[in-house]
Amino acid sequence: MRTFRTLFILLLSVSIISCKTDDKSYNQGINITPKPMELMQKDGKFTLKNTTVFVVKDEPAGKVVDFFISKIRRSTGYSLLKQQDKPSGNYIAVNIVSAMELNDEGYTIDVTGNGITVEAKTPQGVFYGLQTLMQLLPAEIESPEIVKTAWTIPNVSIKDEPRFKYRGQHLDVCRHFLDVDYIKKQLDVLAMFKINKFHWHLTEDQGWRIESKKYPKLNSASVKRTEGEGNVYGPYYYTHEQIKEVVAYAKERFIEVIPEVELPGHGVAALAAYPEYSCTGGPFEVRNIWGVSNDVYCAGNDATFTFLTDIIEEVIPLFESDYFHIGGDECPKGRWEKCPKCQARIKQEKLKDEHELQSWFIGRIEQVLLKHNKKMIGWDEILEGGLAPSATVMSWRGEQGGINAANMGHDVIMTPGGWLYLDHYQGDQMVEPTSIGGYTTLEKTYSYEPVPEGLDKDKAKHILGAQANVWGEYLYVPEQTEYMTYPRIIALAEVTWSRKEQKDYKDFERRIENQLVRLDGHGINYHIPIPEQPKSSSDFIAFVDSAIVELKTTRPVKILYTTNMEEPTADNSKEYTAPLKFSENAVLKVRSALPSGKMSVVRTITLDKQTYAPATASEVTPGMKAEYYKGKYFKVSELEGKTPDETEQIESLRKVKYRIPDYGEIGEEDFVSVVLTGNINVPDDGVYRFSTAADGLWIDGKLLIDNEGTVRKNVKSDKSIALAKGYHAIKIVRLGNIIGGWPTQWDGVGLKMEIQKF
Ligand code: ACM
Ligand code: ZN
Repeated sequence: MRTFRTLFILLLSVSIISCKTDDKSYNQGINITPKPMELMQKDGKFTLKNTTVFVVKDEPAGKVVDFFISKIRRSTGYSLLKQQDKPSGNYIAVNIVSAMELNDEGYTIDVTGNGITVEAKTPQGVFYGLQTLMQLLPAEIESPEIVKTAWTIPNVSIKDEPRFKYRGQHLDVCRHFLDVDYIKKQLDVLAMFKINKFHWHLTEDQGWRIESKKYPKLNSASVKRTEGEGNVYGPYYYTHEQIKEVVAYAKERFIEVIPEVELPGHGVAALAAYPEYSCTGGPFEVRNIWGVSNDVYCAGNDATFTFLTDIIEEVIPLFESDYFHIGGDECPKGRWEKCPKCQARIKQEKLKDEHELQSWFIGRIEQVLLKHNKKMIGWDEILEGGLAPSATVMSWRGEQGGINAANMGHDVIMTPGGWLYLDHYQGDQMVEPTSIGGYTTLEKTYSYEPVPEGLDKDKAKHILGAQANVWGEYLYVPEQTEYMTYPRIIALAEVTWSRKEQKDYKDFERRIENQLVRLDGHGINYHIPIPEQPKSSSDFIAFVDSAIVELKTTRPVKILYTTNMEEPTADNSKEYTAPLKFSENAVLKVRSALPSGKMSVVRTITLDKQTYAPATASEVTPGMKAEYYKGKYFKVSELEGKTPDETEQIESLRKVKYRIPDYGEIGEEDFVSVVLTGNINVPDDGVYRFSTAADGLWIDGKLLIDNEGTVRKNVKSDKSIALAKGYHAIKIVRLGNIIGGWPTQWDGVGLKMEIQKF
């Protein structure tokens, strides 16, 4: 019978999927995320049918119901009707009840086999109640195609409200641009998790992303950059119409969009078009390396404030939020120290130093915002030199800025890097795509407690909530931005919505599997833990007798593997349950599989049986020969046949003469490539592991590590080799250039070489 029905449906429309969803492991139990305040489950269930009706009387709630009617239609194919009178059964009644004992975002749900009642004080509460109802249905309710299944909702009573009123995500669209469709897709998903603030970081050193009608050069000169590799990135920016479209779209999902226009630092893209608002007069180019620029807006020039005021006054009407973010972070003071106008300002305003000048700068901008009834938000550096009276502080450099500001009676939004910077690695950096650094797993983000321990008890009310920040330096494509955002942003949702005592990471881990299927419905490219090795992961393992490969993942998921060169699938692979032993050459392919069947990328680990390579030298010169080649080089082969500009013998890697200068000051003339040659003294026969961020590393004349053309702020590549006791020739080449926004020449930080016996 079932088969016939399936066949019939298939004939009817290819986009209808028929499946039994309620026996899927990820649909078992209650999966509501963020976890509601109170939930009581009872026997029985309600079944959503094509004939189920929404009962709703007032219009604002009706509009919210329409949103869910169309959402439900997409995955069920049902066209649910809205009516004012309650039938005897098979209904979802939605009521606005102004006298409820819940906050404005709270709601109650009562599900019985007969019907469902959702009540809230506000349309926003109704919206969250209905999102929760979606979360009680099988995860396939988020499918973009029709799924034929039993759409059941367990009988429950729920009383829910958020713990914090600020539950945010920040997005940097300057380093790498993300278009309106991308933003809307994110807003759809953020709303599912009851996130209610979207902090849109619109201006930066590396790009200005919002149209200006008054300063048209911003829309041409500031919206593109020439990358270090020579290609042009952009032009990319949002028109006023697009901004308004996003704000309206977000509003329908009860998300407030907060714009950020950065000052006094992080403004090089604007200064490239209008250098007259800098201290030196420029000229400038839109910055093509990350980090912090020394060039900032001039605080002594009144014309700078006319410019910034005009911009702010142009941006304000596009947004509906009461807040306006003015940045305020990472503003070096060097230019101000040397600028006669800035120094005159310090004198005239009787300021102590450049920190007070920054504070004065922010205070002057605060006045512009106050005139328009906007509340100013700034990063925690705005505390330095005195905090503007009305400012709300975003604490990003840890929690102390937030603690200080709250203790002074200011509102605070917690965004500390260690927990809430989603540009950090979420697994071993050897297996994850290159990121800016850090290590913030899903569990770490989940563990965050927004009210810091050091805060005076009566000041906790100033912690409005928390926000996860998504900075885009390494997020070259939208898929990568999603990969870093999800699922960690869902942890942020629970951190800010649910109560501290309700948090339970193990239960969150269980529920996340259901949530990931919902993300599949929206085509989100989320992070799936990649199998790692317990110490440091390596894709090339040399051994002499045998090698043991142990695997783990950042959260418990199944690991599948093959040794026959095929990519592991559900059918051709074995499940990893214990360390694997290899005595012969092998290629191990590993990947993780989620309960939904979705799999991670495949890691290929080569196991190479070797004999100890004999020593290649008996007498050696101490130290290494360093050859320096000035100018930018992108390939090791480009150095061939060239005469070095300088050669010297150095006693250790630390003594390399040309290092990367301050990222704020780097110029074309600063690029130097280094070729180092010498011998290493291998103390015993053994297998040694080399790890470097240099472009190439040769042992005994053979290329061991090849990083040419990769972005390598972090050590990303390592290999092992069996070496006999004695001296072995080594060569390291580090090219001076810019790849992907980082100047990559010898810097002692970006380059490490580890020799490890194991
Ligand atoms: C920041 O991450 N610079 C606020
Ligand atoms: Zn100046």
